Amino acid sequence: MIGTGYVGLVSGVCFADIGNQVVCVDKDKKKIDKLNAGVTPIYEPGLSELIKKNFLAKRLSFTTNIDKAISKSDIIFICVGTPTKKGSIKVDLSFVYKCAKEILKCSKRKKIIVTKSTVPIGTGDEIEKIFKKKKKLFTVISNPEFLREGEAIRDFRYPDRIVIGSNEKKAFNIMKKLYIPLTNKGSKFFTTSRKGAELIKYASNAFLATKITFINELANLCEKSGVNIEDISLGMGSDRRIGGRFLRAGPAYGGSCFPKDTKGLVSAADKYKINLSVVKSVIKSNQDRINLLTHRVHKILGLNIKNKKISFLGVTFKPNTDDMRDSTSLKMIPYLCKKGAKVYYYDPSGEKKEFKKIKNCYYRNNINSNCIDSDLVILLTEWDEFKSIDFKKIIKNRKFKVYDLRNLYSAEEMKKNKIKYYSVGRPNTN
Ligand SMILES: NC(=O)c1ccc[n+]([C@@H]2O[C@H](COP(=O)([O-])OP(=O)(O)OC[C@H]3O[C@@H](n4cnc5c(N)ncnc54)[C@H](O)[C@@H]3O)[C@@H](O)[C@H]2O)c1
Repeated sequence: MIGTGYVGLVSGVCFADIGNQVVCVDKDKKKIDKLNAGVTPIYEPGLSELIKKNFLAKRLSFTTNIDKAISKSDIIFICVGTPTKKGSIKVDLSFVYKCAKEILKCSKRKKIIVTKSTVPIGTGDEIEKIFKKKKKLFTVISNPEFLREGEAIRDFRYPDRIVIGSNEKKAFNIMKKLYIPLTNKGSKFFTTSRKGAELIKYASNAFLATKITFINELANLCEKSGVNIEDISLGMGSDRRIGGRFLRAGPAYGGSCFPKDTKGLVSAADKYKINLSVVKSVIKSNQDRINLLTHRVHKILGLNIKNKKISFLGVTFKPNTDDMRDSTSLKMIPYLCKKGAKVYYYDPSGEKKEFKKIKNCYYRNNINSNCIDSDLVILLTEWDEFKSIDFKKIIKNRKFKVYDLRNLYSAEEMKKNKIKYYSVGRPNTN
């Protein structure tokens, strides 16, 4: 596995756990040193235990030495990042192509090269061009990954589908053999062209982002029209053609995939002169949502928020991960601090380097010390431990408000307890 991040590490460990000999490579020496010392560099439930088990069984190893890892391996998964290029919507494929060049350099016998990274249509063809000098040695396959952070191990073990894209028939048999332990448990094995597999990944993420954006916009309508968005989600989601998942109103979508993949898809379509107007609107609407939710803080606390104490519960884009990429908190917290508010935050995955240099922003390591003396508590991430907080017990002798961006609490209960409560897409939100 080249790239030992959220995808490479989880996939590597899970492949080892189903009996393969796996070596995880990363250029980040600190990450590899940690792994070799028994420390898991990311927060992912169940991962540490699985690493330990497979490391001790000698099925799993970690190294920075890419040459050695490649020369020993039959199948090489490229799992490096594919971020958005700075100041553009294009995908930065430099990490992927660099890997391909290193693979070319160190390969003396036949290799199967599998792209697990999310890459635009035609990237497999570009990789093949890099290999053209030793063309016969390489078979290039696309196998996009669909795991979700926070549920990554379960998602790897029980995927809805395994998508394999190749232009060579023999590649399907090799991959089928590798994935037998998963297909035996019922996961669908879906084969297509290499470009097809590349596009399936972008199309899936853009569609899910569209669902979230759709329900978020409807939440705005619900707030104005006195309807409860949860009834709409349930009423719509019960229709099997629509499905209830990704239909919960809340903050803008974030994370390491949806924001970059929606942009990546539009950029790839631009290349073919195709206007993906729906996806473009989704990107715009999601950016607007961050501004809308941030400015709503002024509606709650007034225009002047200087010296107001605002406490965030959760800053990651979703629970059970430490991933901060494109989280709504990255925009909200700096804005509120700049306006003079004193922002405190607590996240079960720990302090964040992203906020260390921001003036007026402080980390607290538990709910109580984070919320005490608050003027406003903002519930941003639905970690389990935020679901039944007795706010009145924590914030005593002080008027405070709660802004619940995940609708974790009942508005009626909050009213009964005389807590000024604001949520998303519910009639009393404003
Ligand atoms: N994170 C997710 O939930 C998720 C889910 C599905 C697909 N994906 C896709 O998988 C890919 C990886 O995502 P991630 O979240 O795991 O990224 P990540 O940033 O967590 O990990 C990437 C790793 O690759 C390493 N790396 C980069 N270049 C290297 C090289 N030449 N040699 C060795 N190591 C190198 C980096 O040091 C880093 O540790 C992306 O394309 C992403 O879109 C991510």
